[in-house]
Amino acid sequence: MTKLIQWQEIGNSRVILRLDLNVPLKDNTVESDFRISKSLPVITELLSRNNQLIILSHLGRPSVEKPEPSLSLRVVCEHLSKMLHEPIKFVDQITDQITFGEYKIIMFENMRFFKGEVDNDPELAKVISSHGDFFVFDAFGVSHRQESSTTGLMNFLDYAAGPLIQSEVSAAKNILEDPKKPLCTIISGAKISTKISLIETFSNKADYLILGGGLLNTYLHCKEFEVGNSLIERDLQQEVVDFFESDNAKKIIMPIDLVCSSDVTLDNPKIKNISMLQSSDKVLDIGTRSIERYADIIKKCSTVFWNGPLGYVEKKPYDKGTESIINVLADSNCFSVIGGGDTVSVIENMGVEDKISYISTGGGALLKYIEGKDLTVIKKLGL
Ligand code: 3PG
Repeated sequence: MTKLIQWQEIGNSRVILRLDLNVPLKDNTVESDFRISKSLPVITELLSRNNQLIILSHLGRPSVEKPEPSLSLRVVCEHLSKMLHEPIKFVDQITDQITFGEYKIIMFENMRFFKGEVDNDPELAKVISSHGDFFVFDAFGVSHRQESSTTGLMNFLDYAAGPLIQSEVSAAKNILEDPKKPLCTIISGAKISTKISLIETFSNKADYLILGGGLLNTYLHCKEFEVGNSLIERDLQQEVVDFFESDNAKKIIMPIDLVCSSDVTLDNPKIKNISMLQSSDKVLDIGTRSIERYADIIKKCSTVFWNGPLGYVEKKPYDKGTESIINVLADSNCFSVIGGGDTVSVIENMGVEDKISYISTGGGALLKYIEGKDLTVIKKLGL
């Protein structure tokens, strides 16, 4: 029988450390090292207690039959090694013959390259566990998955929750259990069906709801506004229709104007009042007056939870709404929790990370946690 232990108590041991180093790559280099930098504390602390580490992570969703070389963790390993100023031995085959040699850290190849990882095959977990004395899980971003390198290893080694997952869960609990009011929730994304249970979770707690992206377009469409060519979800689940008709939907803050383009290249942006959109328009961001309205609301709030950018941030100037709201949060004293890779990239590019109370490394995992779903890992870790 394995048991839950405290990660700070581990010393002079071989530690298998599960991190979420699933970072965006561009031209074979790391595009954002946000998740890597958030993983440094657990690594340096464990090293300082004379431990040797085997780091595990996944990268993307490769095929096991034909793993894509572009999803190799080798470049991430090199990047991490530079950040730590510590050489790391990269191992691309998991066998029972693995030695540290002169290294303090080994990193395995993308765990999802190995047969058995996503199916949580105990045989894979058993071989990996033979190389360690303890297992530390600090990969909040993958805490909603039951794979060999998540729950699998907990069946073979005593295990502990690392500092990152502890702070992630405590930030999420802060928002969920006893948020200082007023609470504003900003939820954006492509499809409302994938976010409806999040919206429902917050609709009872929040004082204000701000929708963005396809969610907002779909809401406006349901309210019989023309949304032209914009991204909307047409076949709405009954749950969504019911929510839009509920009292809680009254908490949705209506935008005043939107930025749209009728050009296939998405150039020539125009700001239009929400009632002036035409059939050829594609909504790509919120407009100046909507930004002001949302900013006024946020300034009144003590807590803000935000998931998903408000516009098509990949293309300028449609990142302006998202950037403006980030600036409002950066200048405010409210407790804000922001999750989701796209929004986090905008924050990083603006260089205001330090002014946001909590930026989560979890995308899907944070949402699952808030919805109270797929919590096996979290529960096993006693969080
Ligand atoms: C993420 O990027 O959200 C995590 O790394 C989890 O990745 P997954 O959804 O492929 O399991």
